[in-house]
Amino acid sequence: MIRPTVVTMPGDGIGEIVLPEALKVLDAVGYDADYIHADIGWEFWKREGNPLPERTIDLLREHKLGLFGAITSKPKNETVAELSPELRDKGLVYFSPIVAMRQLFNLDVCIRPCRSFKGNLLNFVRQKAGGGFEEPPVDVVVFRQNTEGLYCGIQWTNPSIEVRRALASHPKYQPFASVPSEDLAMAIRLFTRNACQRILLSAFDYARKYGYKSVTVCEKPNVLRETSGMMEEEARKIHEDFSDIQLWSTNIDAQMMWLTKNPEDYGVIVSGNLFGDIVSDAFAGLVGGLGFACSGNIGDEVAVFEPTHGSAPKYVDLDPSIVNPIAMILSAAMMLDHMGESEKATLVRKAVATVVSDARVRTYDMMRIPGGSNSVEHGAATTQQMTDAIIEALG
Ligand code: NAI
Ligand code: MG
Repeated sequence: MIRPTVVTMPGDGIGEIVLPEALKVLDAVGYDADYIHADIGWEFWKREGNPLPERTIDLLREHKLGLFGAITSKPKNETVAELSPELRDKGLVYFSPIVAMRQLFNLDVCIRPCRSFKGNLLNFVRQKAGGGFEEPPVDVVVFRQNTEGLYCGIQWTNPSIEVRRALASHPKYQPFASVPSEDLAMAIRLFTRNACQRILLSAFDYARKYGYKSVTVCEKPNVLRETSGMMEEEARKIHEDFSDIQLWSTNIDAQMMWLTKNPEDYGVIVSGNLFGDIVSDAFAGLVGGLGFACSGNIGDEVAVFEPTHGSAPKYVDLDPSIVNPIAMILSAAMMLDHMGESEKATLVRKAVATVVSDARVRTYDMMRIPGGSNSVEHGAATTQQMTDAIIEALG
């Protein structure tokens, strides 16, 4: 087998802290790979006017495998203000480099496992009817369509006359026809049949491979009749080849309620881009939150693995660092699975499970205490101590 080269993109903020921790774990589990650094994020927007430089795209195109930390994005009015002076009047428009990367390489299948680890104080618990509490294990894997939907990027404030003319062909546009363009903001929710089929097929394949009993399409077809409707229609067709798996359908709003009542009932979930973003964060909140939320962005050729948290700027300068590296480490384990190294991936997840259940080493978020410079005094582990404990548990 060819020795893989992993393109490492730490990005901004705590991305630069947690990514090197994951590399230590990959080394410790004996993953035989080369690593090559690539630039991404706010720094490169400020300096070069491009948060996803062409050289980074070239590296991904060549090596086809990436580990990504996190990036900082800022509101529209701050993007140009922070550009270096010589770039400011060039009309550059900021676009999230991670969204761009997903679209450029068609990383259309986003997998976000949300599994509880025994002994995690952050796990979902509920009262039992007869008194006391129970902690049902959550084992949900969200498949989020990653390139289209409301995040396809087709959006306007002050749309052109051509756009307005096209919209005017729709009867529902009539109440908006007299709104001045500068007072009009809009975003297109675009689904293609092909992308619906791909995310659904990936989800059903995964459910069968890993023994999940249900696939739930979580959309809103009663209102979003065309887009969600297309996802549902394709789900019913694909389900014909997966009669061993139940096909369920929930509306995103109802799903947000149900998952806080009976999260253990769900297995694989499939959603479009925005709803997948929302429902995966919600399930992640039941299994430990952002410190545990890992993901893979998978295309036909390229795959990039990343924690779902952001750059957490308020913790960047703390020394020692206190952020939880587990989400990044679990993302690296997903990369191992993707590369056919499932045994090593299982070892990493087992080591995380051991550390969580031993409960001797907990980062501040796992202790339900505020993060800050005194977290360690209150018994919280540092980022590095957490990594060390996981490596020790690897044996
Ligand atoms: P965030 O995920 O950075 O932080 C949310 C909260 O979770 C904060 O309290 C943070 O301190 C905490 N947190 C995050 N990761 C943690 C970890 N590993 N261990 C312990 N605590 C952790 O999201 P926020 O604050 O909304 O955004 C900060 C920046 O990150 C923004 O510029 C945003 O645009 C960007 N962002 C980037 C993402 C990405 O790179 N994929 C995803 C989400 C936000
Ligand atoms: Mg998100």
